[in-house]
Order: sequence, then C-alpha cells, then structure tokens
Amino acid sequence: MSKKLYIETYGCQMNISDSEIVHSILVDHRFEVTSNPENADLIFVNTCSIRENAEKRVMRRLNELKRFKKSNPRLVIGVLGCMAERMKESLLAEAVFVDLIAGPDSYRDLPKLVDLAEGGQKAINVILSADETYADINPVRLDKNKVSAFISIMRGCENYCAYCVVPSVRGVERSRNPETILQECRILFDQGYREVTLLGQNVNSYDWEDESGSLGFPQLLEKIALINKDLRVRFATSHPKDLSDELIATMVRNENICRSIHLPVQSGSSRILKLMNRKYDREWYIDRVNAIKKNLPDCGVTTDIITGFCSETEKDHQETLSLMQWVEYDYAYMFKYSERPGTIAAKKLADDVPDEVKSRRLEEIINLQQELSLKSNQKDIGKTFSVLVEGTSKRSDKKFMGRNSRNKVIVFAGSNIKPGTYKNVTVTDCTAATLIGKLAE
Ligand code: 5AD
Ligand code: SF4
Repeated sequence: MSKKLYIETYGCQMNISDSEIVHSILVDHRFEVTSNPENADLIFVNTCSIRENAEKRVMRRLNELKRFKKSNPRLVIGVLGCMAERMKESLLAEAVFVDLIAGPDSYRDLPKLVDLAEGGQKAINVILSADETYADINPVRLDKNKVSAFISIMRGCENYCAYCVVPSVRGVERSRNPETILQECRILFDQGYREVTLLGQNVNSYDWEDESGSLGFPQLLEKIALINKDLRVRFATSHPKDLSDELIATMVRNENICRSIHLPVQSGSSRILKLMNRKYDREWYIDRVNAIKKNLPDCGVTTDIITGFCSETEKDHQETLSLMQWVEYDYAYMFKYSERPGTIAAKKLADDVPDEVKSRRLEEIINLQQELSLKSNQKDIGKTFSVLVEGTSKRSDKKFMGRNSRNKVIVFAGSNIKPGTYKNVTVTDCTAATLIGKLAE
C-alpha cells in the first residue's frame, strides 16, 4: 500500500522545481501525493535561507507541523533545501522533532533516508555535488493550470555576491545536459503546456560542453524557441554581467522568447555594487538596459533591490532611486539587507545601517516602484496583446486571466476559454498590478 507525502515549499522558483523532482523520486518509492498534511505519513518542508525572515517563517511552520505527530506517532518530518544545507545537524538541536535533513544535492538519496527515518533513526545527507543536475528525473508537475512549467537548466552559483548565502548552500555552478532539457520541453508541449521558464541562479551563464562542442545560453534558448512558435520561453535569473548582445539578438530573432528580462540591480550606487562584489557598476548596468531598450523596445525589465547594505549612505540610496526612475522597471522585488552567517559581508563588513533607516529607505523604494508599475501599465491602455490564458481569475469565474509576452497579468471577461489558448485582448484600464481588458474583435 502506498503512503502519503505532503510537501510545502518556500523560497524561489528553483525550490518549486526541486519539489517537483522530490515528488517524482518518492512517487517511484511507494508514495502518493496529498495536499493535506493531516493525513500524511511523510511531511517535507523545502526551505529557503536567503534572509533571516525566510528562516524564521520556516521554523514557525515546522513548530506548527509537529502537532501532527500527536495523532500519528509514525509521521516522519523532513527538512529539505537551503536551510537543511546551511544548518545541517544543528537543525536537530533547534527542532528535535525533525527526523530527516536533506540538502539540495541529495534528493536521489531520499528513499534511503526515508527508510532510515521510518526505522526510527535521524537521517541526514547534506553533501553538495559538483555534477548533480537531476537531468534524467522527470518532475511531477505541481502547477495548477498545466499551461506553464519551470525547468531547471543549471544549479549552483559561483558569483559570491558579498551578501548571499546561495554559493554556500547550493554549491558550484553546473549546467544540465541540453538534450534532456530539449526533450523535457518537447514532452511538455505535446502535453499541452504553452510556456516554459528556464531556471538557474545565474541562468545566462549556462554552458554545456561535451565531445561535440560547447553550447551557451543563447544557443540553448534558440533551440527551445524553435521547438514550436506557440511555445513561450522565459528565463530567470539573469546576472547583468552576463547579459550579452548575442542573447538580446537571439530574443530579437525569436518572437516566442518572451519580452521580459529579470535583471537584478541590487543597488544604483557603483560604490555599493563594488562592496557587494556584483562585478558591474552603474554605467555597465545602464549600458545593458540601453541595449535592451534599443533592440527590444517592447521588453519589460524587472529587478531585485537590496536596501541598507553595509555602509549605504543617503547618497547611495538616492542613486538607487534615480536608477529605478531611469530604467522604469515594470516590477521589483525589494528587500532590506539581512546579514547571513558565513557570507563575505558577514565576515568583512559591518551591518551598520540602523533598522529604522533600512525600513524608511525600503518604503521609499516601494512607493517609487508602485508609481513606476502604474505608469508602465497606463502606457498599455488601448494596446492589444496576445494573451496566453492560464485560467479563470481569482475573483470571478466569469473572468479569465493570462499574461502577455511582457509577463503582465491581464484580466478580461469571456466564456468557455480553455487554459493554454492564446487570445487577443485590448487593454481598457489598469491598476499598478494588473491590466484589465476585453477580448479584441
Ligand atoms: N539580504 C536581503 N536580500 C537578499 N537577497 C539575497 N541575499 C540577500 C540578503 N542577505 C535578495 C537579492 C537577490 C534575491 C533573490 O534576494 O536581491 O537577488
Ligand atoms: Fe532561497 Fe536562494 Fe535557496 Fe532559492 S536558492 S530557496 S532563494 S536561499
């Protein structure tokens, strides 16, 4: 008889994709998936370490989940992902009810670890690998709409941004065999999927080499785009230092590579960027955005911003605001700097911006971004876009939602529209977050 597995996922899209791999591995090992933790035999929490708050949230959730052990003493609770890797055995001291700890490169070992934990032992594997990409594992897709799928194409990161815990919890950079990626995309398209998002911590440094030669990110992207023009291709996350003219030219040639680039800037101040070890400065970033604007005038740019990094002054902060205004981002993920143990910044720089100052600067950044998002959406009123329909809108089942190539959400009225179809929609109104439209004649 099969047992029930429940997984909760925190953090980035990479973790969502990893959870799909974990499902696949355990479904092959006598487990079936449940969406209810109450009747699970095995609960996994796939965790994030990027900021202290992310870890606190997971600890709170673990403390809630442990109550299910009361009604089911045989329940196994496991911690996966970045926190498992960062905290290792010390997690057991903080949460004694945890039975299993598995870092991001050890998921093939899960059947064995689960068997050990079921036998009453604490099971741990946090060994990082130089070559694991889970290339041959066919993920169990957990998305609800069956239209849009995430595909990991590389793992790890070696950029060593001063603030970032990722290189130490996700290991060295490695690219996945392109044949397995292409095969996965073809199968998804045949199953009715119409959008794939290629994932990596630094996706544009993808680099595969074998006897037949080498393949970089732009070439991989083009091969995927050529599978079918009805398959939309997205990718995240790009590092500004690796955003090549060749990549932009590849996008220009292939309309189904979506007009949206996530290009984390982190700060608008060259002095702070140097302290962050980002390997580009304000001028380089402006040059790259200029290259996008010139060649792909309809392309949206989105970003990540950290405010209050070590020694950040009011002048540095103003430079971030002015750069945001210059780029006119469609959307931004904005964070207060959170010092992470073991990072270059934790070892060498003082976390010296007071929390009230971080909060105030964050609020200014959020307010500005709100204006920029609204302005960007207002420019779309009257335009008609091809929208890939994902399903009905959250608020009403008479309204549908989908995205345009630029990754903007559009809500419109309609009836009997199957998810996965393309519809032309004319924008009639907007908020800062959403475009509102009607089916074009
Ligand atoms: N503190 C705050 N934000 C961080 N990020 C990464 N590390 C930290 C940190 N220590 C942000 C960056 C990154 C995004 C995924 O999270 O902006 O691009
Ligand atoms: Fe969080 Fe980074 Fe791990 Fe993703 S890779 S879950 S963002 S720490």
